[in-house]
Amino acid sequence: MSDLENPFQETLLQRHRAEPCTVVIFGATGDLTNRKLIPAFYNVAACGDLPPQFKLVGFARREKTDEVFRKELEEGNRKNSRQGHNDELWNSFSQSIHYHRSEFEDPAGYVQLKLLLDQFDKERGTTANRLFYLASAPEAFKPILEMLKAAGLNHGVDGKWARVVCEKPFGKDLATARALNAAVAETFEEKDTYRIDHYLGKETAQNIMVLRFANALFEPNWNSKYIDNVQITCAENLGMEGGRGGYYDTAGALRDMVQNHLFQLLSLVAMEPPTDLSADSVRDEKVKVIRALRPLIGPEAVGANVIRAQYTAGSVDGVSRVGYRQEDRVNPESQTEAYVALRLFIDTWRWQGVPFYIRVGKQLPKKATEISIHFKKPPQVPFATARLPGSSENTLVIRIQPDEGIALRILAKQPGQALSMQQVKMDFRYSSSFGKASPEAYERLLLDAMAGDATLFARRDEVESAWKFIDEIEHAWHQSATPPTMCEYPAGSWGPKEADDLLRQDGHAWRLL
Ligand code: BG6
Repeated sequence: MSDLENPFQETLLQRHRAEPCTVVIFGATGDLTNRKLIPAFYNVAACGDLPPQFKLVGFARREKTDEVFRKELEEGNRKNSRQGHNDELWNSFSQSIHYHRSEFEDPAGYVQLKLLLDQFDKERGTTANRLFYLASAPEAFKPILEMLKAAGLNHGVDGKWARVVCEKPFGKDLATARALNAAVAETFEEKDTYRIDHYLGKETAQNIMVLRFANALFEPNWNSKYIDNVQITCAENLGMEGGRGGYYDTAGALRDMVQNHLFQLLSLVAMEPPTDLSADSVRDEKVKVIRALRPLIGPEAVGANVIRAQYTAGSVDGVSRVGYRQEDRVNPESQTEAYVALRLFIDTWRWQGVPFYIRVGKQLPKKATEISIHFKKPPQVPFATARLPGSSENTLVIRIQPDEGIALRILAKQPGQALSMQQVKMDFRYSSSFGKASPEAYERLLLDAMAGDATLFARRDEVESAWKFIDEIEHAWHQSATPPTMCEYPAGSWGPKEADDLLRQDGHAWRLL
């Protein structure tokens, strides 16, 4: 195939041209805007990728002038910008930032917003493209959508576009996700709807498709004939800092991380090759994986395949930590899990019989997200007399973060007269191979939304299929007469022993990170 016929080549060249537009952030005084969104826009500007006719309007309830708003954002940018903070660049970039005070439910606020946007279009010659970013508390999404529609801001005029970006959490179960999807669909077309999952914006997550489909080496072995099991770990060494306990205790690890981020990684690892790289072709294949997950229904199936746990007091990096139930804003009798491990099966030809083990948890020994593919052993090892080391399988490790890279573990003969073998590692590191830091996930995602590329955003059916699967587990935990136990692990350990037993039953063990 020539490069011109190659769909990967074509799309990579064409993407990321952000179009001139005004971005309106709802809930602009929140932590997300300060910590992630503004530094992302600033870094996009620093890379020269922000269109010159760009405006950003912060929409929130508190009284504030443009100057005060800019000053607050500047402080956030100094702390959080990936490429540092340059006063000159900030001064020119921040001139594009404005503040608009209004209640989310006040129609007059939206009429004024429209006037402001029209005025920008006239003054700066910006085209009337608009990106509405819902970063408020999720309860406000519906009223904001209704108000945008009532003000006629939900569709582009004269060939221009109006798009909406929805932050997570996108619902807290299937019913709420459906209701939210319905509200969005009444206001914006699906093609103009961008549901953020920041894991999809991570370079290493995007590289999974390239690794699989652009290298002849891996794809032929990427199936149940050669793969024994797949593990996905997302470990965090933090707990409920910064007042997060209030939200987290209503969500838990399964809703907070598995329904979205971990299922997205799972889909990328397990999907069939898409026919091209259009947003729908990629998402068609991803959603098939979630639909093919073998359902876990009832407390027995859930208890046998899903381990939930809370941390007790312990220490992480030598610092003492309180137990989950003692955390600020967490119910002292909480039944919310801060850790979850799952054994999943994907009922497709490719994956028949291959367990996918997923685990995610707070207050683990370190922050690390990785996917490991554990290959089967060769049918016959000719070195009958040689002693094989404990872990003798070939393993491909995709390090999503930090220390981004890919390692392949293979067996090699130890130098010397005797025939003894040892596992060795072939390692690729982003930092040394590319010599520059990867962009932050939000930089890529914001650019894509401004460029009209929804590939790295979750589609309606993906979100709903994921919730359908998750709801059954939540149901068994919280509504059955015989709910599976809540296990415990000391903060700073690698999770409950029951999660180790889950793999031991199959003759496996979690990869040591
Ligand atoms: C968020 C979750 O979506 O992802 C948090 O709500 C979690 O609980 C965070 O800490 C992890 O993101 P990252 O990029 O730091 O792995």
